[in-house]
Amino acid sequence: MSTLIAPSILSADFARLADATELIKDADWLHFDVMDNHFVPNLTFGVPVMKAVHAVTDLPIDAHLMIEDPDRWAIDYAEAGAHNVTVHAEAVRDPITVAKNLRAAGSLAGLSLKPGTDLADWSEVLPHFDTLLIMTVEPGFGGQAFITDMLDKIRSARRLVDTGHLKLLIEVDGGIAADTIEAAAEAGADCFVAGSAVFGAADPAAAIAALRAKAAAARA
Ligand code: DX5
Ligand code: ZN
Repeated sequence: MSTLIAPSILSADFARLADATELIKDADWLHFDVMDNHFVPNLTFGVPVMKAVHAVTDLPIDAHLMIEDPDRWAIDYAEAGAHNVTVHAEAVRDPITVAKNLRAAGSLAGLSLKPGTDLADWSEVLPHFDTLLIMTVEPGFGGQAFITDMLDKIRSARRLVDTGHLKLLIEVDGGIAADTIEAAAEAGADCFVAGSAVFGAADPAAAIAALRAKAAAARA
């Protein structure tokens, strides 16, 4: 299985998003953090900005919707060309219908869990999803410290995927950097979102390569 690195443009210069896509062109996915000031206490961008970014990069867009009422809004991101659209378990009302609609629109369907949300409560809907995004910080802001307690949740997800024969990609988001990525990879994550560790680096391309090498070595 491949190791995916998904830089979050939340940590990029918002006045230069096209340049940001250039800096990360060797990445696997472009992580796009949508925040609505309601589900989380921060406000970023939505479909029009995602379309503009999509138009200037070949990177698949990984839309992470930290918003209320994803049942109503998620489909717009799939129709606008996102490769994967992730909704939050704490906000979604009908996860199976949302997942079906996302897939029908040509996108992967993702489910995200905040640190306090139990994986066991969601195991029955996981067969309907393609990606599981485990938050390793409280959603809302970049640059926070990785919550080490989440390693157990990643291990449980890995066991669930392997023993349940699920085709579910396990993604981790929050505080992923050179000093945390190996632990997350060993615990069983497949895809690594990194904001400040990539855009805060003097050389983002080198940071991506270093993160990928560490994750791949830890998974081997
Ligand atoms: C936080 C976002 C993350 C954020 C990660 O709510 O979902 O994607 O950009 O940033 P870092 O890597 O700096 O923790
Ligand atoms: Zn995110």
